[in-house]
Amino acid sequence: LTARLTIDPHFAVGAVNRRLFGSFVEHLGRCVYDGIYEPSHPTSDAEGFRQDVIELVKELGVSTIRYPGGNFVSGFRWEDSVGPVAERPRRLDLAWHSTETNEVGLHEFSGWLDKVGSELMMAVNLGTRGTMDALDLLEYSNIAAGTTLSDRRVANGKTDAFGVRMWCLGNEMDGPWQLGHRSADDYGKIASRTAKAMRQVDPGIELVACGSSSAHMPTFGEWERVVLTHTYEDIDFISCHAYYEEKNGDLGSFLASAVDMDHFIDSVVATADHVKAVLGSTKTINISFDEWNVWYIDRFENVDKITGLDNWPVAPRLLEDSYSVADAVVFGNLLISLLRHADRVTSASLAQLVNVIAPIMTEPNGPAWRQTTFFPFALTSRLAQGVALEVKLESETYSTAVYGDVAVVDAVATHDEETGLTSVFLVNRDQTHAVSVEIDTTALGDVVVREAQTLSDADVYARNVLDDQERVGLRANDSVRVSRDIVSITLPPVSWTAVSLA
Ligand code: AHR
Repeated sequence: LTARLTIDPHFAVGAVNRRLFGSFVEHLGRCVYDGIYEPSHPTSDAEGFRQDVIELVKELGVSTIRYPGGNFVSGFRWEDSVGPVAERPRRLDLAWHSTETNEVGLHEFSGWLDKVGSELMMAVNLGTRGTMDALDLLEYSNIAAGTTLSDRRVANGKTDAFGVRMWCLGNEMDGPWQLGHRSADDYGKIASRTAKAMRQVDPGIELVACGSSSAHMPTFGEWERVVLTHTYEDIDFISCHAYYEEKNGDLGSFLASAVDMDHFIDSVVATADHVKAVLGSTKTINISFDEWNVWYIDRFENVDKITGLDNWPVAPRLLEDSYSVADAVVFGNLLISLLRHADRVTSASLAQLVNVIAPIMTEPNGPAWRQTTFFPFALTSRLAQGVALEVKLESETYSTAVYGDVAVVDAVATHDEETGLTSVFLVNRDQTHAVSVEIDTTALGDVVVREAQTLSDADVYARNVLDDQERVGLRANDSVRVSRDIVSITLPPVSWTAVSLA
């Protein structure tokens, strides 16, 4: 098979915002406890945070981290999580049928973010709480001193304000599973009121309204229209959430999941721009794709789910998906889709970061290791700089049960005028054939290949597990050649590749 693409720095889509490489830490399963925080672990620092995990998070290259949920936030009382640890209440976490000890809260998590070098993106509870609690948390977080709440923060050990810029107005309020689930009309009204009030405290914050929990929700589209009609002038972003999994052994459709993500983004952009037109607004609403990943949800629903009036475990093993090579190829393709929409998707969070549907796994008192999905994230985060480019792509197609005819090869490029770095990210979705790709780089002038790395394996279901932590990794793609204005490279079946040129 063959494919051809043309790269031209004149065809910029939009700047690559560092916030595209965000992630998500929820109080869920072993993400926080026995994930980032395990005081008795041999690598843990004085604050109880695992340094092996900190090193991996840094290597992953994560910008903004969304916290503390997720579904968890809809039952969360933020004030439980501050003040002397010994006095913090133990609470039922209804979202995940667990016990929340509140041992790690806002101060501890913010301290951990300083260690990994990431920015905090905070979610407020609009499920079982409302405007006043959001205002209190904002005052506690962002006002320097001189009020009861800001002085309480100082007394709790944080002299400077946290200065949180990004705030999510609730989580997945369209989902019937959400504590305090609302109609679009109800949610739009409370989100608008809360946003206006929060801006009276701090006009500099950036606000995200809940969009749909997936493009396949029955209310999708209409939810965005109604919510944006209420909130348009009050917010900056509308969220998108999407999870993909291989269903019924249909690998071909699964490998084309980015087609769905492309369509999802295009539909939300169209809806936001429709509301803009109706309202006669001059403002443009962008997307915060603040939950995306591969997630085997069926396994959670049927195997993991906890029930029982007397059964509320602390940090149970939940949503601990083990990712294959095929999962990582889809995952890398989702990153390609996000980059392709860099003009309108200006924030995104990989859900999640450690143990829970995560690129990093840990064992208590044991090792931390990289899942297959770690590699496309880390490399894209490192190489995608400057602006995203529209690439002119010619590829054969294959037929899928879910998405119809789909291109075998998908790709996006980025270009940084200052450093001269150009990067190309590609997938081959074909299950049996390699593809020879020719990249026309005429518009770039002379180029040399700095690196070309591929993720693939003869066994597309190979994984990195506790007993074999380095089974899958990136390897140099030695097929890459430069001849005049053409860079050629061979992509193995079911593979993800990054090429950087200078
Ligand atoms: O990321 C796991 C869960 O997925 C989040 O808590 C929720 O927002 C979504 O349904």
